[in-house]
Amino acid sequence: IPQLCKQPLVYPITTIPRIFHHPPDTLPARKHDPKSRPDYKIPVIDLSGDRAAVIDQVRRASSTLGFFQIINHGVELSKINGLISAIKAFNEQPMEIKSQFYHREMGHGASFQTNFDLFQSRAASWRDTLQVRLAPISPDWNYVPEVCRNEVAAWEGEVIKVGDELLGLLSEGLGLDKNKLKEMTCLDARMMVNHYYPYCPQADLTVGITSHTDPGVVTLLVQNEVGGLQVKNGEDDWIDVEPVPGAFVINIGDILQIMSNDEYKSVQHRVLANPCQEPRVSVAVFLNPANRENIYGPIPEIVSSEKPPVFRNFSLTDFLTRFFTKELDGKSLINYYRL
Ligand code: OGA
Ligand code: NI
Repeated sequence: IPQLCKQPLVYPITTIPRIFHHPPDTLPARKHDPKSRPDYKIPVIDLSGDRAAVIDQVRRASSTLGFFQIINHGVELSKINGLISAIKAFNEQPMEIKSQFYHREMGHGASFQTNFDLFQSRAASWRDTLQVRLAPISPDWNYVPEVCRNEVAAWEGEVIKVGDELLGLLSEGLGLDKNKLKEMTCLDARMMVNHYYPYCPQADLTVGITSHTDPGVVTLLVQNEVGGLQVKNGEDDWIDVEPVPGAFVINIGDILQIMSNDEYKSVQHRVLANPCQEPRVSVAVFLNPANRENIYGPIPEIVSSEKPPVFRNFSLTDFLTRFFTKELDGKSLINYYRL
């Protein structure tokens, strides 16, 4: 017996606790209907291409699906894989070690929990998330697990490089100066969420992330090869975001939809509960404006008498307070500010 006990005891589970059961009417049908859009895919944009053509592709994707992937962005595959492995390693430590990090408060700039909206939501989601606020205030690094601390810290520099490039393309796609969104501090607040979606034995009863839109300006995400992220396309059609090794998945958030006066679209997306033995890992960084007291709304240069503003102005404090006191959901927040 002592010999056997050296191995950690594993209890394979075959059913999931009730708290994870989502109301049946909110549960995803697992696949999008391939008949409706046989070759509809999230566009993959090669950033090494001709700049005018790249801007056009970014503008078109941002104005329709609100999602695209980018390749040849300058971040090495080994950096991405190193980060994903480190997040996986953290989550696969014994419970006694991981559980030291369990808490929901962001006072130290880091938390580890299931869905952050648990207390406002109808059910728990089948994932764990290590959330780290990178900027404008750095986290207390003691609250970021040591097994992934270096990788998390190093990721920030990569995100700044890619984010800078991306904001330039998005600004120009709106007919604005390349530096416009950056000057509006859109690169300066950065929140990182490291998601781990373990195997789920009853994946049809729960979800990885409920359908939602991202609140910020733009989201930069990397993922491993498992997949499960889907983007809403019309009433009942969902498009799979197929994992492309080395690519970033980019999507427009609510604030950029408002700043662009509806030109760019913040589109609902979700993650299915993971039915595969292999865990899914994804890392997203949300870019937000840093100045919370500034007034945001449609950018004055792009509104005119032909294109009057369709949103009212608001402070980021007001926006984020509303975001964090409701269930993660679809378009309710953006519609709240619609004129
Ligand atoms: C998010 C999100 C998708 C994913 O964190 O807002 O949509 O693939 N994540 O993990
Ligand atoms: Ni999201």
